[in-house]
Amino acid sequence: MIHFDPSTRTFNLILKTSFYAFQVDETGVVVHLAHGPRPANAPSTAQVTAKATLFMSDERVSFEHQLRRDELVTFGDTTYHEVALKVAFPSLPASIQPGEAAHLPIRDVRLRYAGHEIVTDARPGLSANKTSQVSGKTCEVCANPSERQTLRVFLRDPAQPFRAALCYRLTPEHDIIERWVELENTGEEIITVEACAFATMHLPNGANELTSVTGLWGREFTTQREAVPMGLRILESRMAQGGHESSPFFFLNRPGQAWEETGAVWFGALELSGGWRIAVEHLPSLDVRVHAGYNPFDFELALAPGQKHITPALACGVSNEGWGGASRRLHAFARERILPAAKPNAPLRPVLYNSWEATYFNLSVAGQTELARKAAAIGVELFCLDDGWFGARRNDHAGLGDWVVSRDVFPDGLAPLVAEVRKLGMKFGLWVEPEMVNPDSDLYRAHPDWILHFAGRPRTEQRNQLVLDFGRPEVVEYIFAALNKLCDEYQIDFFKWDMNRNPSEPGSVAGKAIWRKHTAGVYSVMDRLRAAHPELDIQSCSGGGGRIDLGVLQRADQVWTSDNTDALDRIRIQEGFSLAYPARAMECWVTHERNHQTHTIHTLAMRFDVAMRGALGIGSSLNALDEAELAEYASFIAFYKRIRPIVQNGELYRLQRQEEFGASIIQYVLADGSEAVYSVAVSAYLMGQHLPTPPLRGLDPAATYAACNRTGTEVYRASGYALMTLGIPWLKYVNVQDTLTLHVKKV
Ligand code: DGJ
Repeated sequence: MIHFDPSTRTFNLILKTSFYAFQVDETGVVVHLAHGPRPANAPSTAQVTAKATLFMSDERVSFEHQLRRDELVTFGDTTYHEVALKVAFPSLPASIQPGEAAHLPIRDVRLRYAGHEIVTDARPGLSANKTSQVSGKTCEVCANPSERQTLRVFLRDPAQPFRAALCYRLTPEHDIIERWVELENTGEEIITVEACAFATMHLPNGANELTSVTGLWGREFTTQREAVPMGLRILESRMAQGGHESSPFFFLNRPGQAWEETGAVWFGALELSGGWRIAVEHLPSLDVRVHAGYNPFDFELALAPGQKHITPALACGVSNEGWGGASRRLHAFARERILPAAKPNAPLRPVLYNSWEATYFNLSVAGQTELARKAAAIGVELFCLDDGWFGARRNDHAGLGDWVVSRDVFPDGLAPLVAEVRKLGMKFGLWVEPEMVNPDSDLYRAHPDWILHFAGRPRTEQRNQLVLDFGRPEVVEYIFAALNKLCDEYQIDFFKWDMNRNPSEPGSVAGKAIWRKHTAGVYSVMDRLRAAHPELDIQSCSGGGGRIDLGVLQRADQVWTSDNTDALDRIRIQEGFSLAYPARAMECWVTHERNHQTHTIHTLAMRFDVAMRGALGIGSSLNALDEAELAEYASFIAFYKRIRPIVQNGELYRLQRQEEFGASIIQYVLADGSEAVYSVAVSAYLMGQHLPTPPLRGLDPAATYAACNRTGTEVYRASGYALMTLGIPWLKYVNVQDTLTLHVKKV
């Protein structure tokens, strides 16, 4: 609900459990009032009307502290701290004749209120078109297609031909506001935008405890929690994708005032994959601000006369149920509003088989067919052929860029394998790495200028490959045409879209705009493919979890979480992932007994129990397993299918975090409390340590529940009240480095 009080010029955005308020002051500046949880007993009509002057500077001191909380902090007026928007104007408008040197370019942008509107059709930049033509009918392709309100507040610079609009799109049921800006050059010269965040968030004083993730290849999503000292803390990507070292989201709270399920936590997640920055600033006044948007590090945004630029969005909100509540809001938002809608005939993510770790580049028709038969027999629903099926790609030195089926490996093309996979009742998926090229490829030989590079400088290879220049429209077109042809020819159900290096030497025909253009190009190919092939699913992979964010998730049904499939490591990686992203998008494979990345050995039960916390996949060499082992796989997969609706659609509670306790206990529960999944994974244990039995959540206290294991055997029975007070005494069922998954359901 969006309220505007014309007498005080105050805006109140009312969401399910939170509110957001700001006001136009007497000089026309749009000033933040507050953003926080709403008192539980407040009527939805209750509004904030305080005077924005509450936050004006202290006139007793001679140094301006820049305390005014502008809704979008710009480089203009008196600015000493971080800004969201910095603009360079090339001249003074002819109408202004100050009789003094102009001192060009003018770097002073002042935004003053010029009106507002409330609409239902606004969309942030780079958002996926949520409609598609299926059998001649227009269909929404996200789970909840209902209308949402957007408030657009128009601002104008008093002297320059420049306009901005602050946009706020509300998803009240999940307490999420998507914020973005629309910038417009209304003059006759080029205006240069030097820095551009999509929003400024003002937090209550002292809310400086920051939760984010860090890592690297094979160790993504390591949770880090810190008190941001006075000054700036930057989370960023200087790459064309988000990278393994971070993921574009943050949680902030007052230290000691929030925990997993208690206290107010402010959060935000960018709907953008590459070249992003989240600047958290802790001011000496104790104010905490966040500016989140494009990374200004190597950045270009020139607005031609008449041109408008719409930025992607920051999805932000506040939870009054701690970090867990922040995660659940983001998960529900992603499930309903970000992820492509599930296909009507396949409402849940399928169990996938991926042949990479089984065969690597050693592909053959017979070997893949054999794998497919075994996969189908154990219950797999989607068979994905990985790297090596095309061009001269017999190893990672050649062929990348040549998206034609290799007759050396598949003498009769892919059709026989695809037909066999379909006959076995599975969908067919194919690995591609569209943004890359090996120098030893027909594509590179034909177009050596199509890659990112600077003339006369080395073209640094990583994994023997170079990055295509997605700043060139003809490159984007070529990639679309190649993938589209594959879809037409083989009716591909699923692309695993990989990206296996970070760009270097980022010379492009697009100049410094390449970071924006690269992401836009990738999104446009994905969007066009999906529009042309409504049945197609896409998985985002970048050497594991290098491109996971709310931007790519608008067109990728799932993501490859990490190349590290070691179950112990995965407990931690998946916990970090779960801070911001939903389980149904988190692909998790069960791989070999001796893990290929870490060389450690884990039981099959542990590998399954950890992988069943997300969208289950199998990556083991099925051809090397005996009948008894295959039967065990089949039994776990059958169990997963029983609990899958709860894992993929339920609410997540991190009952006990691995981050602090060495044992991770999570619960997924359906909204109506009828069924839950209780999953324990103990990675570390101190001698004599008393393992806890955290209370479950979200159940019906009056009902009786049975907890069953994989074989369907009831191992525990209790009332909802007992489960939500005493928990499950799992100690007798689980050992150190051990796991347990129980299906808890009303009886
Ligand atoms: C990196 C991916 O993360 C792996 O799963 C696999 O697809 C390889 N690339 C193939 O080159």
